[in-house]
Amino acid sequence: MAFIEVKPEKLNVNIFNMIKNWMVLTAGDPDDCNSMIVSWGGMGIMWGRPAATVYVRNSRYTLDFMNKDEYFTLSILPETYKSEMGYLGSHSGRDGNKYAKTDLHPISFGPAVGIQEAEYVFVMRKLYNARMDRRDFKDDVIYEEWYSGKDEGNDHNLFIGEILTVYKKK
Ligand SMILES: Cc1cc2nc3c(=O)[nH]c(=O)nc-3n(C[C@H](O)[C@H](O)[C@H](O)COP(=O)(O)O)c2cc1C
Repeated sequence: MAFIEVKPEKLNVNIFNMIKNWMVLTAGDPDDCNSMIVSWGGMGIMWGRPAATVYVRNSRYTLDFMNKDEYFTLSILPETYKSEMGYLGSHSGRDGNKYAKTDLHPISFGPAVGIQEAEYVFVMRKLYNARMDRRDFKDDVIYEEWYSGKDEGNDHNLFIGEILTVYKKK
């Protein structure tokens, strides 16, 4: 596999742009996994460890995998894969195998599964997750904006993962 390991503190990327330009969240085993697009999240330090957060709505099929698995990955793909990423971000794995419909291949990265075509793959160990409770929102405008209409009850689930390894394509 043409990847090298890099330490998170040696990463030479702008984390804000990396997240904003879409990440592929993957969980499961190589023969039974699912991926979706996330463009909200964060990277930093939690409990003294390099960590990342992602937010997954209740309706996502990927949530089933996130809830049951100990590991997940964030894969950063080159711009040339934008249409494949668009597919992952607009179709559900519940309705069919998304890898079969794209040029993306899930492969093992240590104990987790990531996307072979990625420039970077962050391997995460799940440390914490919680459904974001309506009662804890301090700004009703935000709640109304993001959790009403078709998204009523479609809350986000926060996941904090420890970044175990970052793989960079050679
Ligand atoms: C640019 C973009 C960003 C997205 N960010 C998120 C996100 O942060 N959290 C989330 O739950 N869904 C997000 N989505 C939606 C999911 O990727 C989408 O609903 C996907 O089809 C879910 O697939 P699944 O049902 O196979 O898990 C995003 C979609 C796009 C296109």
